[in-house]
Parts: sequence; C-alpha cells; structure tokens
Amino acid sequence: MQVNDFNNYLSNSFKQIITNDSIVTQAMAYSLIECQGKRIRPLLVYATNALFNGKQGDCNDLACALECLHTYSLIHDDLPCMDNDDLRRGHLTCHKKYNETIATLAGDGLQALAFEYIGASKNLDDTQKAKACYTLANYAGSNGMVLGQCIDLESEGKQIDQDTLFELHDKKTGCLLTCALCFGAISAKAYDQLDTLDKIGKKLGLAFQIQDDILDITKSAAQLGKSNSDQENEKCTSVSIIGLQHSQQLMQQLYQEIEDYINQYNEGNKQPLLDIIESLKGRQY
Ligand code: IPE
Ligand code: IPE
Ligand code: MG
Ligand code: MG
Ligand code: MG
Repeated sequence: MQVNDFNNYLSNSFKQIITNDSIVTQAMAYSLIECQGKRIRPLLVYATNALFNGKQGDCNDLACALECLHTYSLIHDDLPCMDNDDLRRGHLTCHKKYNETIATLAGDGLQALAFEYIGASKNLDDTQKAKACYTLANYAGSNGMVLGQCIDLESEGKQIDQDTLFELHDKKTGCLLTCALCFGAISAKAYDQLDTLDKIGKKLGLAFQIQDDILDITKSAAQLGKSNSDQENEKCTSVSIIGLQHSQQLMQQLYQEIEDYINQYNEGNKQPLLDIIESLKGRQY
C-alpha cells in the first residue's frame, strides 16, 4: 500500500461521512488531511493484513479509523493543558490555527469518527466490526493510550523508575501501534494471532517512543516538523531516565527482536512489515 493511495481514500471517505462544513469539520480536516503525518499506523494495518494473506481493500476503513484516533490524540496532546506545543506535522498545531475550544472539539470529533468508520464499513462483517470496536476502545481508552497520557503528565518534574517509564511508553504509544497490528489481523480474520501481535506491538511501542524521545533532544523543531518541548516540560523520557546511549542501544535491540519475531512467520507476505521496521530504524523525524 502506498501512502498516497491511503491519503486519497482518507480524504474522499472523510468528505462522504462528514457532510457539513462547520469550523470543527475544517479543523478536523486540517489536522487529519492537510497536515499529513508519516501514516505509520495505517501502513502497519496494511502490512499486517498482507502477513495474514488478507485483502488490501478490507483494511481501508480500519486504517482510517486508527489514523483518526491517533490524530485526535495528537491534537489533545498539543493543547496548553497538556504539552503546550505550537508546531505539529510541519504546521501550526490545531489550537494555534483555530483555538482551544475548536481543537478540543476537533479531537472529540475525530475520536467519534474513528468508530463511525468501523460501523459504516462496507467491507467488514459484523464480527470484524465488533472486534475492531472493542480493540480500538480498549487500546485507546483509560486502560491504554489515555492511561499513558495520564502517567506522562503526572510524571512531569518527577523522577520515575525504569519500569514506570516503560509502562508509560507502552500505554501512550505502544497501545495504538499494537492496535494497528491487530487491525491488520482482524481485516484478514486472523483472530488467533491477536495475542502474539500484542507482544510484537509492545516492543514496537517501546522502540518507537524511545526513538521519539531521542529525536526530541537531538533534532530541531524544524527538522521534526513538531515542537520539541520535553526538556522544557520536564518530561520523564528515555533520555532523562536511562540516558541517551542506553536508549539508543535498547532501541536497536528492540527493533532486532521485532524483526526476529516477524521472521518466525512462515506463511504470508512478511516483506511489507519488515520494510516498515527497516524504515523506522533510520527515521529522522
Ligand atoms: C507521534 O506519533 C506521537 C507518538 C506516539 C510519539 P508519530 O511520530 O507517528 O506522528 P505522525 O503521525 O507521523 O505525525
Ligand atoms: C504523545 O507522546 C503520545 C500521544 C499523543 C498519545 P509525545 O508527547 O512524546 O508525542 P509528541 O512528541 O508530542 O509527538
Ligand atoms: Mg505528550
Ligand atoms: Mg507531545
Ligand atoms: Mg515526544
């Protein structure tokens, strides 16, 4: 799956589902479609679908759902009451472009839209829809990403131990990445794979957030296309808790373990997933 094809599907389907042109719709479209991210989660959905010999078309709505949910998490993450950032995806953050009220509502709207994508899908059967709704709610909610964000914000200015740091990473970042892998499996009806994917997703979340923390202090905001405010916010990060060198070693080790896991699959097309992991290893933003 090419990112451009996903972006086209996302923008066309968005216009079909959201039929008004209110200011909140504009803000949602701004953060989701105009300001494009790397689309890693959608790409992971398609790649995991390929691993289980699914049909690519069956992934489209789940990939959109997850990107909506993720974009909502970023809009809220940037708000003054959270990380208070001005730059996201190379553009002004949603509350800077609009205002805090509209940004809050745009996040709310995108969270609901995620579930609407699943419910309205023409490619998924009722079992797939039920499993996808449960999976997304579980990984995104107060046992998942929301809990991670809570630990992140409660830990500002404090010292936490390594286990708490890794729980923070797993919840705030690992959960939605794991959800991407699970969505790939659900789209291919490979329901018996969900437990194994949870293990791979945990490692991926840890590797991805360690890398995000490293990039935050080693790159400029211009290079990242987003504010790098971890130090200013006195965040507990991989770098502040376990140090830069250890973070880099651990990240590389985790990506290697993920590749080993994927290589254990004998059937299906594992190359798309391996290609994503390879590209993540060297990412610069
Ligand atoms: C940013 O995620 C938030 C984290 C979980 C670290 P991405 O780095 O995937 O952000 P986009 O979607 O490319 O903007
Ligand atoms: C945010 O982590 C993760 C979520 C939005 C759930 P960060 O606060 O580190 O993400 P960035 O660095 O702002 O993208
Ligand atoms: Mg944050
Ligand atoms: Mg942030
Ligand atoms: Mg960060």
